Amino acid sequence: MPIKSRIRTVPHYPKQGIMFRDITTLLKDAVGFRVMVNDLVNHYTGMKIDKVAGIEARGFIIGAALAYQLGVGFVPIRKKGKLPAETVGQEYELEYGTDKIEIHVDAIGRGEKILLVDDLIATGGTAEAAVKLIETMGGKIVECAFVIDLPDLGGRKRLEKLRHKVFALSEFE
Ligand code: PRP
Ligand code: HPA
Repeated sequence: MPIKSRIRTVPHYPKQGIMFRDITTLLKDAVGFRVMVNDLVNHYTGMKIDKVAGIEARGFIIGAALAYQLGVGFVPIRKKGKLPAETVGQEYELEYGTDKIEIHVDAIGRGEKILLVDDLIATGGTAEAAVKLIETMGGKIVECAFVIDLPDLGGRKRLEKLRHKVFALSEFE
């Protein structure tokens, strides 16, 4: 069952001209959800991973399921102001202006092997900011995993230039 067939495209969301790849149709499908998680589990089984770090919001759903199956802990990387304890933050570029993501300072220990997870990579700005946060904590990125890669937007190349490995279950134009 190709997971790609269960991802819905919503034209002109959140604005005119954007083809939004919507994973809610994949997640609501019991088989689709299971195949998605299993495909990731199969790829990462046997690799030395200490924790999964997921990016808000959809990276939480996928990252938590994957961490559970791999038998490792889960760390949330959240939009600014959402985490209750002491944090470090990293700004990143949006199409217009900037945003900031944060992680708890005690979330990752020096030398821990971290798998970064999000639903989708577009420009790679969000993932690059997350990578910086993890590395600031002394974490080592094992790989960056996504359900969807939009290769035309250059995010994979951007991470690979920084010598990070990228794994994606599907690609869309
Ligand atoms: C989307 C997506 C990634 C990011 C990818 O999240 O879930 O986190 O954009 O874009 P980039 O590669 O160009 O940085 P969004 O910013 O829409 O936040 P949300 O998950 O909280 O809705
Ligand atoms: N879907 C979900 N998140 C996104 C997309 C998309 O198509 N493009 C940029 N972020």
